[in-house]
Amino acid sequence: MKLVFATNNAHKLEEVTKIINDDFEILSLKDIECFDDIPETQNTIEGNASQKAHYVYEKYKINCFADDTGLEIDALNGEPGVYSARYAGENCTFQDNVKKVLEKLEGVENRNAQFKTVISLIIDGKEYQFEGIIKGKILKEQKGSSGFGYDPIFQPEGYNKTFAELAPEVKNKISHRGIATSKLAEFLKNI
Ligand code: IMP
Repeated sequence: MKLVFATNNAHKLEEVTKIINDDFEILSLKDIECFDDIPETQNTIEGNASQKAHYVYEKYKINCFADDTGLEIDALNGEPGVYSARYAGENCTFQDNVKKVLEKLEGVENRNAQFKTVISLIIDGKEYQFEGIIKGKILKEQKGSSGFGYDPIFQPEGYNKTFAELAPEVKNKISHRGIATSKLAEFLKNI
């Protein structure tokens, strides 16, 4: 069965293709010649994942899934959450976002946070959602240089390294996206 992953991120595509069994041919947006700027205007992670999957399903009439991720920091009432990509403003860099988080948490004792990924899958018009959460804490300074986004300041529970210090294979196995993707893969095995 052909299944579109509503992304053009080559790294995400590779990770997902590795996990999902061979009965599925995973296509990117480019593969179906979708060059649209798909709207993500909802105010929840679940809502945005769903909106992206519906957009592709309704326009191309093809089974598909979409993901959305946010970093939720307890002391900031769940911020940056759904705004994780553009927390420091439109066109900001990962570094701008990291700096903003560190500034907002200056002098704050409670550093607890979690990453959350939601994947929305639409098969024959029916929607299913899969969630992946990893808990951890926000360090006071950046450590490590691999990964992306908030990786240099996020230390997952049970580890004494940040996501940016862990080997990519380790991060991918324990991460929010890894957990949500494994749930999706398990579901797809049984249909
Ligand atoms: P997206 O929904 O996957 O595009 O993620 C939204 C934003 O969350 C990204 O722009 C990053 O800032 C952040 N993010 C998502 N996944 C990760 C991760 O694995 N590590 C660090 N930051 C992430």
